[in-house]
Amino acid sequence: MNKTILTGLRVNSVLTLGNYLGALLPMVRLANKYSKDYTVNIFVPDLHSIISSIDGTLKENTIRSIKYFLSAGLELNDNVHIYRQSRVPAHTELTWILNCVATMGEMSRMIQYKEKSEGKESANVGIFDYPVLMASDILLYGASYVPVGEDQFQHIELTRNLAIRFNHRFGDTFVVPEETKKQVEFMGLDNGIRIRDLVNPDKKMSKSTPGENSKIMLSDLPEKAAKKIMSATTDSFEDIEFDLTTRPGISNLLQIEALINDRPLGEIIREWQGKSRYGDLKKQVASSVQKLLEDFQTNYANTSDTDVEEILPIGEKYANEIANAKLAEVYQKVGLA
Ligand code: TYM
Repeated sequence: MNKTILTGLRVNSVLTLGNYLGALLPMVRLANKYSKDYTVNIFVPDLHSIISSIDGTLKENTIRSIKYFLSAGLELNDNVHIYRQSRVPAHTELTWILNCVATMGEMSRMIQYKEKSEGKESANVGIFDYPVLMASDILLYGASYVPVGEDQFQHIELTRNLAIRFNHRFGDTFVVPEETKKQVEFMGLDNGIRIRDLVNPDKKMSKSTPGENSKIMLSDLPEKAAKKIMSATTDSFEDIEFDLTTRPGISNLLQIEALINDRPLGEIIREWQGKSRYGDLKKQVASSVQKLLEDFQTNYANTSDTDVEEILPIGEKYANEIANAKLAEVYQKVGLA
């Protein structure tokens, strides 16, 4: 059987360049490269999205999210499946079962939970539990590869642990996704991707950061995005060097340049290191970002909602078949069927 590559992007608002370079573009590149020999699943975790906002825009944002994949160059064929999480009830059913396998201790250690709940008692239980839903998203389809940004690696590790524990307790049932090191290699990278905030490069670029200049949104005017790169925080050393710990700002720019142009980071570093003209590098990266947004936005404008609405039922029929078969096996193993 073909191995499966799978990913999902939440749909709460317009995505950032971090989402784009960390997950969407790697997924599209992997899908276009491997979809002859692998099964490719792309889904919208819409049930997951409501952990942070429940409002009337969810449905339309869901369509938008799929249009993003198409606008980033995803080529469709019979091995590429696109669906909404909410249309495949097996995701929530498996979540309940895995809730009874996951422990409070491991769930409480999830960094995203700590960050998102800010330790508040008023944080909803969904924020605590969503990594288990994410594990179900992955395990129902036997995915080996799950291209995500570095901030999601802990959830991939949790998924592996739950799969291993379940298999150990109930017999071989789930494909255990590859460890993150192998995932990174499969994406053709040296490290997980964490695109930095342009103003405070010690932090990751995030849509929830209030500062306009900190982040580039996929909907930004391309020239405006280029200006944000030109004003990005770098450092006061004399020449360009890649070091994410001591020189996160300039390293972030080198990484963005490599990812957009699909070139090895090492090659970009060799090209720029030791040079003193930070401005030249910024101009180069600004032009790459501007071109990326121009192409992406043109493609987006040319993709209609109907294109998406037509492909979803096909993907959802397929997803239900695969997920229900795995869920039936799980029910049997735990003694529910
Ligand atoms: P989400 O929606 O927060 O983010 C979507 C993807 O974007 C990546 N990302 C980044 N990558 C690099 N640099 C950044 N600054 C940056 N910001 C965001 C995230 O790592 C992610 O890959 N739990 C997931 C969605 C999900 C999922 C799944 C993913 C639900 N079920 C199953 C894979 C498989 C999430 O909240 O991602």
